[in-house]
Amino acid sequence: MKTKASVYLRGSSKFKVVSITGEDKPMINEDMLGKWQHLINLTAKILNIPAALIMQITEENMQVFLKSQNPENPYESGGSDRLGHGLYCETVIGTNRELLVENALENEKWKDNPDAGLNMISYYGLPLRWPDEEVFGTICILDSKENDYERNATELIGEIKEAIEADLKFLVDYEKLERIKEKIRNIQKLESVGILAGGVAHEINNPLNGIINYSQLIKEAAAGNSDAVGYASEIISEAGRIADTISSLLAFSGNETQGVSIHMPSDIINGIISLISGMIKVNKIHLVMEIEEGLPLIETNPQLLQQVILNLVSNSMDSLNNKYIGADKDKILKIACNRAEDTGGDFIRITVEDYGLGIAESTGRHIFDPFFTTKDRTEATGLGLSISYGIVKELGGEITYESEENKWTKFHVLIPVGGIQSGA
Ligand SMILES: Nc1ncnc2c1ncn2[C@@H]1O[C@H](COP(=O)(O)OP(=O)(O)OP(=O)(O)O)[C@@H](O)[C@H]1O
Ligand SMILES: [Mg+2]
Repeated sequence: MKTKASVYLRGSSKFKVVSITGEDKPMINEDMLGKWQHLINLTAKILNIPAALIMQITEENMQVFLKSQNPENPYESGGSDRLGHGLYCETVIGTNRELLVENALENEKWKDNPDAGLNMISYYGLPLRWPDEEVFGTICILDSKENDYERNATELIGEIKEAIEADLKFLVDYEKLERIKEKIRNIQKLESVGILAGGVAHEINNPLNGIINYSQLIKEAAAGNSDAVGYASEIISEAGRIADTISSLLAFSGNETQGVSIHMPSDIINGIISLISGMIKVNKIHLVMEIEEGLPLIETNPQLLQQVILNLVSNSMDSLNNKYIGADKDKILKIACNRAEDTGGDFIRITVEDYGLGIAESTGRHIFDPFFTTKDRTEATGLGLSISYGIVKELGGEITYESEENKWTKFHVLIPVGGIQSGA
């Protein structure tokens, strides 16, 4: 949602609503603050005036963002005045144009404006905008005596405006670049962890098979000794758990794409529903299914895809159960499947959506990392999503999520129509 402010255009008795600095905008860094400060200090000195200001508009106020640091300047750093009674800067912002008032006291429209109360009777100012046109505020100069701000003065302020707006654009571009770099770093990290996990899993697989086989032999040889048979069975079952984790790791590292066949997406999803319906009932969750009619066939590994959906559903159930202990009308889990029209119809999109606790931004950065979990370590391994990521990538698709903290989470899985594309 855009942040807005309403400014009053003096003399026209009109209010104008403008978009102002939104939450998505970066902070102004120290270097820039220092440079801007220096520029307005110099301006006040060269033009021999009491006040050069950079003002910032907020939802309700016009605020002194930076002021020239000369003793005659009557403005306070951070000082502010409420919008709505026709400040000079409100008109600059509302009209998005320069404003020159040579002598407010001789000007019917401006004579009782609030700044004239500070004896600032002349004004020249320009709007400052972010590259997307959101308003930052103004750059302005004020004088306690009549001043027509000759050409050199207005040109200087024009140049400073250009410099500040170039800085604002730089900040926005820089932040975009940082976000892209972070994404690339994450992908690289996941890939290298995948390679490592695959290597380790292979190394463990052989000795593990040995352990299982020898335990089997011990079990047979110890027939009649119930303690020994029990211990051997225990070793076999624990080793089986390690084998499961390893096959998950192999899936994550992308070394398993055999078993591809042609399926109706609805069959794969319905297969899951029969697996989870008991759990859904016990946990008093409302399950909503939205499977589009006439979906195209997909060529995929159904077990792996089901494993992904199961991981997502199990996360959603955890989140719902953590939010609602018992039954609740909002304890909803939704599984949807549509043709992803935004991909040109080349993919189907499976969405697992819950109205649970949502994912905080700080957590969201790590959820695809292997072994990352916010749950009790004795119950969770933190492998669910990283494995799902590996599987979906191997199936030629993509997994993404969106969430609003404390409200909802949606995981989207794209799977190619007609089969795994080579090179994907
Ligand atoms: N639907 C969701 N709602 C809220 N948080 C989620 C959701 N899905 C994942 N998360 C967060 O992502 C983390 C990682 O999920 P992941 O499935 O990889 O591991 P886990 O569920 O913690 O453990 P495991 O899947 O091994 O039992 C979770 O611990 C949780 O914080
Ligand atoms: Mg999980």
